[in-house]
Amino acid sequence: MHHFQYKRNKLWAEAVSVQEIADQVGTPCYIYSQATLKHHFKIFDQAFSKISHLTCYALKANSNLTLLRLFGRLGGGADIVSGGDLYRALKAGIPPERIVYSGVGKTAEEIRYALKEKILLLNIESPEELKLVDEIAGRMKRKAPIGIRVNPDIDPKTHPYISTGLKKNKFGINIQQSLEEYRLAKTLSHIAIVGVDCHIGSQLLATQPFLEAIQKLKKLIAQLRYLKIEIQYIDLGGGLGITYDREEPPHPKEYARAIIKELGRMPYILILEPGRVIVGNAGILVTKVLYVKKGEEKNFIIVDAGMNDLLRPALYDSFHHIQPVVRHNRAKIQADVVGPICETGDFLAKDRMLPLQEPGELLAIMSAGAYGFSMASNYNSRPRPAEIMVQGKAFHVIRKRETFAQMIALEKVPDF
Ligand code: LLP
Repeated sequence: MHHFQYKRNKLWAEAVSVQEIADQVGTPCYIYSQATLKHHFKIFDQAFSKISHLTCYALKANSNLTLLRLFGRLGGGADIVSGGDLYRALKAGIPPERIVYSGVGKTAEEIRYALKEKILLLNIESPEELKLVDEIAGRMKRKAPIGIRVNPDIDPKTHPYISTGLKKNKFGINIQQSLEEYRLAKTLSHIAIVGVDCHIGSQLLATQPFLEAIQKLKKLIAQLRYLKIEIQYIDLGGGLGITYDREEPPHPKEYARAIIKELGRMPYILILEPGRVIVGNAGILVTKVLYVKKGEEKNFIIVDAGMNDLLRPALYDSFHHIQPVVRHNRAKIQADVVGPICETGDFLAKDRMLPLQEPGELLAIMSAGAYGFSMASNYNSRPRPAEIMVQGKAFHVIRKRETFAQMIALEKVPDF
Protein backbone atom coordinates (compact mmCIF):
# COMPACT_ATOMS: atom_id res chain seq x y z
CA MET A 1 0.00 0.00 0.00
CA HIS A 2 1.30 3.45 -0.86
CA HIS A 3 0.10 6.92 -1.74
CA PHE A 4 1.64 7.34 -5.21
CA GLN A 5 -1.27 7.02 -7.60
CA TYR A 6 -2.36 8.29 -11.00
CA LYS A 7 -5.21 10.74 -11.23
CA ARG A 8 -6.21 11.77 -14.75
CA ASN A 9 -2.96 10.26 -16.05
CA LYS A 10 -0.74 12.30 -13.75
CA LEU A 11 1.21 10.78 -10.89
CA TRP A 12 0.39 12.20 -7.48
CA ALA A 13 2.13 11.85 -4.15
CA GLU A 14 -0.82 12.04 -1.77
CA ALA A 15 -2.55 15.28 -2.85
CA VAL A 16 0.42 16.89 -4.60
CA SER A 17 1.32 16.43 -8.25
CA VAL A 18 4.77 14.93 -8.69
CA GLN A 19 5.36 17.15 -11.73
CA GLU A 20 4.72 20.22 -9.59
CA ILE A 21 7.28 19.16 -7.00
CA ALA A 22 9.87 18.46 -9.69
CA ASP A 23 9.15 21.83 -11.34
CA GLN A 24 9.85 23.59 -8.05
CA VAL A 25 12.67 21.49 -6.62
CA GLY A 26 14.36 20.13 -9.74
CA THR A 27 15.47 16.60 -10.49
CA PRO A 28 16.63 14.10 -9.48
CA CYS A 29 14.73 14.18 -6.21
CA TYR A 30 13.44 11.68 -3.70
CA ILE A 31 9.80 12.11 -2.68
CA TYR A 32 8.39 10.43 0.42
CA SER A 33 4.76 10.15 1.45
CA GLN A 34 4.21 10.84 5.12
CA ALA A 35 0.86 9.05 5.14
CA THR A 36 2.51 5.92 3.74
CA LEU A 37 5.38 6.06 6.23
CA LYS A 38 2.96 6.47 9.13
CA HIS A 39 0.70 3.73 7.88
CA HIS A 40 3.57 1.28 7.44
CA PHE A 41 5.07 2.01 10.83
CA LYS A 42 1.73 1.67 12.59
CA ILE A 43 0.71 -1.53 10.80
CA PHE A 44 4.04 -3.12 11.68
CA ASP A 45 4.14 -1.94 15.27
CA GLN A 46 0.51 -2.71 16.01
CA ALA A 47 0.88 -6.20 14.60
CA PHE A 48 2.96 -6.96 17.72
CA SER A 49 0.65 -5.16 20.14
CA LYS A 50 -0.28 -8.41 21.90
CA ILE A 51 3.21 -8.81 23.31
CA SER A 52 5.81 -6.56 24.96
CA HIS A 53 7.92 -5.26 22.15
CA LEU A 54 9.94 -2.37 20.83
CA THR A 55 10.07 -1.48 17.13
CA CYS A 56 13.55 -0.10 16.51
CA TYR A 57 13.52 1.33 13.00
CA ALA A 58 16.75 0.48 11.12
CA LEU A 59 18.32 3.82 10.26
CA LYS A 60 20.44 2.34 7.51
CA ALA A 61 17.39 2.10 5.25
CA ASN A 62 16.84 5.86 5.34
CA SER A 63 18.22 8.09 8.06
CA ASN A 64 16.70 11.46 7.18
CA LEU A 65 15.94 13.35 10.42
CA THR A 66 12.32 14.05 9.45
CA LEU A 67 11.59 10.34 9.05
CA LEU A 68 13.31 9.58 12.35
CA ARG A 69 11.33 12.28 14.12
CA LEU A 70 8.14 10.80 12.73
CA PHE A 71 8.91 7.24 13.85
CA GLY A 72 10.09 8.47 17.25
CA ARG A 73 6.78 10.28 17.75
CA LEU A 74 4.93 7.11 16.86
CA GLY A 75 6.73 5.38 19.74
CA GLY A 76 9.52 3.84 17.70
CA GLY A 77 13.10 3.30 18.69
CA ALA A 78 16.19 3.06 16.50
CA ASP A 79 18.53 0.35 15.31
CA ILE A 80 21.85 2.05 14.67
CA VAL A 81 25.12 0.83 13.17
CA SER A 82 27.49 3.74 13.69
CA GLY A 83 28.26 6.77 15.81
CA GLY A 84 26.77 8.88 13.03
CA ASP A 85 23.51 6.94 13.22
CA LEU A 86 23.45 7.51 17.00
CA TYR A 87 23.97 11.22 16.51
CA ARG A 88 21.07 11.34 14.05
CA ALA A 89 18.72 9.30 16.22
CA LEU A 90 19.36 11.50 19.25
CA LYS A 91 19.06 14.70 17.20
CA ALA A 92 15.69 13.46 15.95
CA GLY A 93 14.55 13.06 19.56
CA ILE A 94 14.56 9.27 19.82
CA PRO A 95 15.16 8.50 23.50
CA PRO A 96 18.42 6.60 24.15
CA GLU A 97 16.54 3.90 26.06
CA ARG A 98 14.93 2.96 22.74
CA ILE A 99 18.19 2.66 20.80
CA VAL A 100 19.98 -0.60 19.99
CA TYR A 101 23.39 -0.75 18.37
CA SER A 102 24.51 -3.52 16.00
CA GLY A 103 27.57 -3.76 13.75
CA VAL A 104 30.71 -5.87 13.42
CA GLY A 105 33.15 -3.01 13.54
CA LYS A 106 32.28 -0.62 16.33
CA THR A 107 35.26 1.58 17.20
CA ALA A 108 36.32 2.45 20.77
CA GLU A 109 35.02 6.00 20.24
CA GLU A 110 31.66 4.73 19.06
CA ILE A 111 31.36 2.35 22.03
CA ARG A 112 32.22 5.19 24.43
CA TYR A 113 29.65 7.47 22.78
CA ALA A 114 26.93 4.81 23.02
CA LEU A 115 27.70 4.15 26.70
CA LYS A 116 27.83 7.85 27.50
CA GLU A 117 24.39 8.31 25.96
CA LYS A 118 23.05 5.29 27.88
CA ILE A 119 21.47 3.45 24.98
CA LEU A 120 19.33 0.37 25.60
CA LEU A 121 21.87 -2.20 24.45
CA LEU A 122 24.87 -2.98 22.33
CA ASN A 123 24.71 -6.13 20.26
CA ILE A 124 28.15 -7.69 20.48
CA GLU A 125 29.49 -9.41 17.39
CA SER A 126 32.87 -10.83 18.50
CA PRO A 127 34.75 -11.92 21.64
CA GLU A 128 37.25 -9.09 21.08
CA GLU A 129 34.46 -6.53 21.00
CA LEU A 130 33.05 -7.93 24.24
CA LYS A 131 36.40 -7.44 26.00
CA LEU A 132 36.78 -3.93 24.62
CA VAL A 133 33.28 -2.93 25.75
CA ASP A 134 34.03 -4.25 29.25
CA GLU A 135 37.29 -2.30 29.37
CA ILE A 136 35.71 0.95 28.18
CA ALA A 137 32.72 0.59 30.51
CA GLY A 138 35.18 -0.05 33.37
CA ARG A 139 37.03 3.17 32.64
CA MET A 140 33.68 4.98 32.58
CA LYS A 141 32.66 3.27 35.83
CA ARG A 142 29.61 1.85 34.10
CA LYS A 143 28.03 -1.44 33.34
CA ALA A 144 27.45 -1.89 29.63
CA PRO A 145 24.11 -3.47 28.71
CA ILE A 146 24.78 -6.04 26.00
CA GLY A 147 23.21 -8.72 23.88
CA ILE A 148 25.21 -11.16 21.83
CA ARG A 149 24.43 -11.27 18.14
CA VAL A 150 24.39 -14.92 17.28
CA ASN A 151 24.69 -16.32 13.83
CA PRO A 152 22.03 -19.03 13.60
CA ASP A 153 23.26 -20.38 10.23
CA ILE A 154 19.98 -20.04 8.39
CA ASP A 155 19.59 -19.50 4.68
CA PRO A 156 17.19 -16.60 4.18
CA LYS A 157 17.06 -17.31 0.41
CA THR A 158 17.70 -13.75 -0.58
CA HIS A 159 20.43 -11.95 -2.57
CA PRO A 160 23.86 -13.18 -1.35
CA TYR A 161 24.98 -9.60 -0.60
CA ILE A 162 22.12 -9.16 1.86
CA SER A 163 22.12 -12.55 3.61
CA THR A 164 23.74 -12.18 6.97
CA GLY A 165 22.88 -15.21 9.09
CA LEU A 166 24.90 -17.88 7.30
CA LYS A 167 28.05 -19.42 8.76
CA LYS A 168 30.09 -17.94 5.93
CA ASN A 169 28.89 -14.39 6.69
CA LYS A 170 30.97 -12.01 8.79
CA PHE A 171 28.12 -11.24 11.19
CA GLY A 172 27.53 -12.41 14.73
CA ILE A 173 29.02 -15.26 16.71
CA ASN A 174 28.34 -18.88 15.85
CA ILE A 175 25.38 -19.90 17.97
CA GLN A 176 27.17 -22.83 19.67
CA GLN A 177 30.21 -20.73 20.38
CA SER A 178 28.05 -17.93 21.74
CA LEU A 179 27.45 -19.93 24.91
CA GLU A 180 31.15 -19.56 25.66
CA GLU A 181 30.89 -15.84 25.10
CA TYR A 182 27.93 -15.55 27.43
CA ARG A 183 29.95 -17.46 30.05
CA LEU A 184 32.81 -15.04 29.57
CA ALA A 185 30.46 -12.04 29.64
CA LYS A 186 29.09 -13.21 32.98
CA THR A 187 32.56 -13.01 34.53
CA LEU A 188 33.23 -9.49 33.27
CA SER A 189 32.44 -6.94 35.92
CA HIS A 190 31.40 -4.11 33.62
CA ILE A 191 29.06 -6.08 31.43
CA ALA A 192 25.34 -6.53 32.08
CA ILE A 193 23.90 -9.29 29.92
CA VAL A 194 20.43 -8.20 28.83
CA GLY A 195 19.72 -9.80 25.48
CA VAL A 196 20.08 -12.25 22.64
CA ASP A 197 20.15 -10.93 19.10
CA CYS A 198 20.15 -12.15 15.52
CA HIS A 199 19.49 -10.75 12.06
CA ILE A 200 19.43 -13.26 9.24
CA GLY A 201 19.11 -11.13 6.13
CA SER A 202 17.09 -8.61 4.23
CA GLN A 203 14.22 -8.73 1.70
CA LEU A 204 12.96 -12.06 3.07
CA LEU A 205 9.81 -13.30 1.39
CA ALA A 206 8.79 -16.04 3.80
CA THR A 207 8.26 -16.37 7.53
CA GLN A 208 9.91 -19.78 7.82
CA PRO A 209 13.54 -18.59 8.17
CA PHE A 210 12.48 -16.23 11.00
CA LEU A 211 10.75 -19.09 12.77
CA GLU A 212 13.81 -21.31 12.42
CA ALA A 213 15.89 -18.53 13.94
CA ILE A 214 13.49 -18.26 16.88
CA GLN A 215 13.68 -22.01 17.49
CA LYS A 216 17.46 -21.76 17.68
CA LEU A 217 17.32 -18.69 19.94
CA LYS A 218 14.89 -20.44 22.27
CA LYS A 219 17.28 -23.37 22.63
CA LEU A 220 20.09 -20.97 23.40
CA ILE A 221 18.01 -19.11 25.99
CA ALA A 222 17.20 -22.41 27.74
CA GLN A 223 20.91 -23.20 27.89
CA LEU A 224 21.61 -19.74 29.26
CA ARG A 225 19.03 -20.25 31.97
CA TYR A 226 20.82 -23.40 32.96
CA LEU A 227 23.93 -21.26 33.42
CA LYS A 228 21.86 -18.82 35.50
CA ILE A 229 22.04 -16.17 32.83
CA GLU A 230 18.70 -14.39 32.56
CA ILE A 231 18.01 -12.08 29.66
CA GLN A 232 15.31 -9.45 29.15
CA TYR A 233 15.31 -8.89 25.40
CA ILE A 234 15.12 -11.03 22.29
CA ASP A 235 16.16 -9.01 19.27
CA LEU A 236 15.06 -10.62 16.00
CA GLY A 237 16.60 -8.01 13.69
CA GLY A 238 14.84 -6.81 10.55
CA GLY A 239 14.53 -8.29 7.11
CA LEU A 240 10.88 -8.50 6.12
CA GLY A 241 10.69 -8.03 2.35
CA ILE A 242 8.51 -5.81 0.17
CA THR A 243 7.00 -5.96 -3.30
CA TYR A 244 9.29 -4.40 -5.88
CA ASP A 245 7.82 -6.31 -8.79
CA ARG A 246 5.77 -9.44 -8.22
CA GLU A 247 7.16 -10.64 -4.93
CA GLU A 248 4.55 -11.68 -2.40
CA PRO A 249 6.07 -11.13 1.02
CA PRO A 250 4.05 -12.01 4.09
CA HIS A 251 1.94 -9.11 5.36
CA PRO A 252 3.38 -7.69 8.61
CA LYS A 253 0.32 -9.07 10.42
CA GLU A 254 1.05 -12.56 9.15
CA TYR A 255 4.75 -12.19 9.98
CA ALA A 256 3.87 -11.00 13.50
CA ARG A 257 1.30 -13.72 14.05
CA ALA A 258 3.78 -16.44 13.10
CA ILE A 259 6.53 -14.95 15.27
CA ILE A 260 4.27 -14.50 18.29
CA LYS A 261 3.07 -18.08 17.96
CA GLU A 262 6.60 -19.46 17.65
CA LEU A 263 7.80 -17.47 20.66
CA GLY A 264 4.99 -18.80 22.81
CA ARG A 265 4.55 -17.46 26.30
CA MET A 266 7.72 -15.75 27.33
CA PRO A 267 8.77 -13.13 29.82
CA TYR A 268 11.01 -11.24 27.40
CA ILE A 269 10.61 -8.04 25.45
CA LEU A 270 10.81 -8.59 21.70
CA ILE A 271 12.91 -6.10 19.72
CA LEU A 272 12.38 -5.76 15.97
CA GLU A 273 14.58 -3.82 13.57
CA PRO A 274 12.54 -3.24 10.41
CA GLY A 275 13.92 -0.92 7.75
CA ARG A 276 12.79 -1.67 4.21
CA VAL A 277 9.24 -2.72 5.06
CA ILE A 278 8.58 0.67 6.65
CA VAL A 279 10.16 3.01 4.11
CA GLY A 280 10.73 1.06 0.88
CA ASN A 281 7.41 1.68 -0.83
CA ALA A 282 6.96 5.08 0.79
CA GLY A 283 9.48 6.78 -1.49
CA ILE A 284 10.13 7.35 -5.18
CA LEU A 285 13.03 8.83 -7.10
CA VAL A 286 12.00 11.30 -9.77
CA THR A 287 14.31 11.76 -12.71
CA LYS A 288 14.24 13.68 -15.98
CA VAL A 289 14.77 12.17 -19.40
CA LEU A 290 17.79 13.79 -21.04
CA TYR A 291 18.11 11.87 -24.27
CA VAL A 292 16.63 8.89 -26.02
CA LYS A 293 19.34 7.07 -27.91
CA LYS A 294 18.17 4.48 -30.34
CA GLY A 295 20.87 1.97 -31.09
CA GLU A 296 21.09 -0.93 -33.48
CA GLU A 297 21.00 -3.48 -30.72
CA LYS A 298 19.55 -1.53 -27.86
CA ASN A 299 17.68 1.61 -27.01
CA PHE A 300 18.79 3.78 -24.13
CA ILE A 301 16.73 6.25 -22.18
CA ILE A 302 19.34 8.47 -20.59
CA VAL A 303 18.11 10.17 -17.44
CA ASP A 304 19.55 12.62 -14.92
CA ALA A 305 19.67 10.12 -12.02
CA GLY A 306 22.53 7.69 -11.86
CA MET A 307 23.98 4.93 -9.73
CA ASN A 308 25.29 7.58 -7.36
CA ASP A 309 21.65 8.53 -6.61
CA LEU A 310 20.23 4.97 -6.53
CA LEU A 311 22.84 2.25 -6.31
CA ARG A 312 20.58 -0.79 -5.91
CA PRO A 313 20.19 -1.80 -9.58
CA ALA A 314 23.94 -1.51 -10.23
CA LEU A 315 24.97 -3.26 -7.02
CA TYR A 316 22.37 -6.01 -6.68
CA ASP A 317 20.81 -6.04 -10.14
CA SER A 318 17.63 -5.16 -8.29
CA PHE A 319 14.34 -4.34 -9.95
CA HIS A 320 12.45 -1.07 -9.53
CA HIS A 321 9.32 -0.27 -11.48
CA ILE A 322 9.70 2.82 -13.64
CA GLN A 323 6.64 4.85 -14.49
CA PRO A 324 6.08 8.02 -16.47
CA VAL A 325 5.05 10.94 -14.26
CA VAL A 326 2.56 11.95 -16.97
CA ARG A 327 0.95 9.08 -18.85
CA HIS A 328 0.43 9.45 -22.59
CA ASN A 329 -1.05 7.01 -24.99
CA ARG A 330 2.11 6.25 -26.93
CA ALA A 331 3.89 3.36 -28.54
CA LYS A 332 6.21 1.45 -26.26
CA ILE A 333 9.87 0.78 -26.77
CA GLN A 334 12.19 -1.64 -25.08
CA ALA A 335 15.08 0.24 -23.54
CA ASP A 336 17.69 0.34 -20.82
CA VAL A 337 17.15 3.27 -18.49
CA VAL A 338 20.62 4.55 -17.73
CA GLY A 339 22.24 7.41 -15.86
CA PRO A 340 24.96 9.86 -16.85
CA ILE A 341 27.76 8.12 -14.90
CA CYS A 342 30.80 6.91 -16.77
CA GLU A 343 30.33 3.22 -16.04
CA THR A 344 28.53 0.45 -17.87
CA GLY A 345 27.10 -0.64 -14.53
CA ASP A 346 25.24 2.66 -14.27
CA PHE A 347 21.72 1.54 -15.07
CA LEU A 348 18.36 1.86 -13.37
CA ALA A 349 16.57 -0.72 -15.50
CA LYS A 350 17.43 -3.16 -18.26
CA ASP A 351 15.31 -4.14 -21.27
CA ARG A 352 12.25 -2.39 -19.95
CA MET A 353 9.11 -1.79 -22.02
CA LEU A 354 8.26 1.87 -21.59
CA PRO A 355 6.15 4.35 -23.54
CA LEU A 356 8.36 6.41 -25.80
CA GLN A 357 9.82 9.33 -23.84
CA GLU A 358 10.64 12.83 -24.92
CA PRO A 359 13.58 14.76 -23.45
CA GLY A 360 12.43 16.81 -20.47
CA GLU A 361 9.74 14.36 -19.42
CA LEU A 362 9.83 12.81 -15.99
CA LEU A 363 10.05 9.22 -14.83
CA ALA A 364 9.34 7.93 -11.35
CA ILE A 365 11.50 5.11 -10.03
CA MET A 366 9.25 3.34 -7.59
CA SER A 367 10.01 1.66 -4.23
CA ALA A 368 13.10 3.78 -3.72
CA GLY A 369 12.47 4.85 -0.12
CA ALA A 370 14.77 2.21 1.41
CA TYR A 371 18.49 2.10 0.68
CA GLY A 372 18.04 4.84 -1.91
CA PHE A 373 19.24 8.15 -0.56
CA SER A 374 21.08 6.41 2.30
CA MET A 375 23.41 4.74 -0.22
CA ALA A 376 23.78 7.81 -2.45
CA SER A 377 27.24 9.22 -3.07
CA ASN A 378 29.03 12.04 -4.85
CA TYR A 379 30.53 9.72 -7.48
CA ASN A 380 31.37 11.60 -10.69
CA SER A 381 31.18 14.82 -8.61
CA ARG A 382 27.43 14.74 -8.58
CA PRO A 383 25.72 16.58 -5.72
CA ARG A 384 23.31 14.32 -3.86
CA PRO A 385 19.63 14.83 -4.71
CA ALA A 386 17.03 16.73 -2.72
CA GLU A 387 14.59 14.89 -0.47
CA ILE A 388 10.96 15.93 -0.17
CA MET A 389 8.25 14.90 2.26
CA VAL A 390 4.67 15.16 1.11
CA GLN A 391 1.99 15.60 3.72
CA GLY A 392 -1.51 15.78 2.26
CA LYS A 393 -1.66 18.87 0.07
CA ALA A 394 1.68 20.22 1.29
CA PHE A 395 5.26 19.28 0.63
CA HIS A 396 8.47 20.14 2.43
CA VAL A 397 12.07 19.95 1.31
CA ILE A 398 13.53 17.83 4.10
CA ARG A 399 17.02 17.84 2.62
CA LYS A 400 18.18 20.40 0.14
CA ARG A 401 19.97 19.41 -3.00
CA GLU A 402 23.69 19.51 -2.33
CA THR A 403 25.59 22.32 -4.00
CA PHE A 404 28.96 22.14 -5.75
CA ALA A 405 30.42 24.26 -2.95
CA GLN A 406 29.14 21.87 -0.28
CA MET A 407 30.57 18.97 -2.22
CA ILE A 408 34.12 20.31 -1.94
CA ALA A 409 33.73 22.12 1.40
CA LEU A 410 35.91 19.69 3.35
CA GLU A 411 38.74 19.56 0.85
CA LYS A 412 41.92 21.50 1.47
CA VAL A 413 44.68 22.01 -1.01
CA PRO A 414 48.03 22.30 0.83
CA ASP A 415 50.70 24.80 -0.26
CA PHE A 416 53.01 22.69 -2.36
N1 LLP B 1 19.13 -5.01 11.50
C1 LLP B 1 20.37 -5.33 11.05
C2 LLP B 1 21.37 -5.79 12.01
C3 LLP B 1 20.66 -5.23 9.68
O1 LLP B 1 21.87 -5.55 9.25
C4 LLP B 1 19.67 -4.76 8.77
C5 LLP B 1 19.95 -4.62 7.35
C6 LLP B 1 18.40 -4.42 9.30
C7 LLP B 1 18.17 -4.57 10.65
C8 LLP B 1 17.28 -3.91 8.43
O2 LLP B 1 16.91 -4.83 7.48
P1 LLP B 1 15.62 -4.58 6.57
O3 LLP B 1 14.40 -4.65 7.48
O4 LLP B 1 15.74 -3.26 5.94
O5 LLP B 1 15.67 -5.69 5.60
N2 LLP B 1 21.42 -2.22 0.91
C9 LLP B 1 20.64 -3.44 0.78
C10 LLP B 1 20.10 -3.92 2.11
C11 LLP B 1 21.15 -4.15 3.16
C12 LLP B 1 20.56 -4.57 4.47
C13 LLP B 1 21.58 -4.59 5.53
N3 LLP B 1 21.10 -4.88 6.84
C14 LLP B 1 19.53 -3.20 -0.26
O6 LLP B 1 19.49 -2.13 -0.84
O7 LLP B 1 18.76 -4.10 -0.53
